[in-house]
Amino acid sequence: MNEPEQGILARPKRIGVLTSGGDAPGMNAAIRAVVRKAVYEGIYVHGIMRGYAGLIEGEMRPLDERSVADIIHRGGTILQTARSERFMTEEGLAEACARLRESRIEGLVVIGGGGTFRGALKLVEAGFVVVGIPGSIDNDIPGTEYSIGFDTAVDTALDAIERLRDTAASHSRVFLVEVMGRDTGFIALAAGLAGGAEEILIPEAPFDVDELCAGIIASYKRGKRHSVIVVAEGAASAVELGRLVAAKTGYDTRVTVLGHVQRGGRPTGFDRTLASQMGAAAVDAICRRQSGTMMAWRAGQVVTVPLTEVVGRRKEIDRKLVELARVLAI
Ligand code: F6P
Repeated sequence: MNEPEQGILARPKRIGVLTSGGDAPGMNAAIRAVVRKAVYEGIYVHGIMRGYAGLIEGEMRPLDERSVADIIHRGGTILQTARSERFMTEEGLAEACARLRESRIEGLVVIGGGGTFRGALKLVEAGFVVVGIPGSIDNDIPGTEYSIGFDTAVDTALDAIERLRDTAASHSRVFLVEVMGRDTGFIALAAGLAGGAEEILIPEAPFDVDELCAGIIASYKRGKRHSVIVVAEGAASAVELGRLVAAKTGYDTRVTVLGHVQRGGRPTGFDRTLASQMGAAAVDAICRRQSGTMMAWRAGQVVTVPLTEVVGRRKEIDRKLVELARVLAI
């Protein structure tokens, strides 16, 4: 593990930056930090559009310090994003390498999640200097405590949970709220714990529908007059589960699927500061030729970790938080 704060050894003339995979709030703040830190160091920056798909097509434009003005507070990504299957083919990779050589890009910053870093490793193997910044609302990237966008997505889910709690309490209803997270439960656990959910269903902790229903009935008997159940999309379909819960408990049940609303919107202060620090650290890492690394947040600071310790691994959920949420829902 290397600290990005160490001395800069060599400066490339030109670097590229792209966003890939699902967009996440704070990606724009990361792009801004990469561009401004690079310009500050006297390095030219090319913005590559639509991730690896745009790289293959040579869709690039020069970015200066002014072209990233007024984006720190905006969700989405000004560079747009894509998931490119073609890039993962030999022919696609060769095209991407050719475009990088033609445009004389000496280092590349890729902002995204697991798929993005798999792609980055291919470019590293082909001899390019590539560093990664974790950007994903799912927070499922190993090696870092936080990825850019997670904090904002949790806040968005929390806002919805609180609104639903108001109406659930007014009607004594059971509410199931489905949140994103692909095959992980990080958003569900964080939003469920902070939102005081009665149950949090995540893929990392298999559940039984009969036990779930018995738990809801028992909680009503203990005096609860409503129930908020946060369901990670990877654990179950809230729509199907809602039907079962209504049938088995007899309680008035409603379902809300939050969907892509969690992906957009104004990034939180935390996501912006995380993105700003990681963006600047990524430029430092390129200057030091720390190729094949990812910026990571550990114990309150940005450090670099090898991409080989990230790709193909699974991030563990904090079991203590799962247990705490259970205890606090009595
Ligand atoms: O990885 C981010 C994410 O929003 C996941 O939580 C979700 O499963 C997936 O992307 C949705 O992908 P798409 O935007 O392609 O529908």
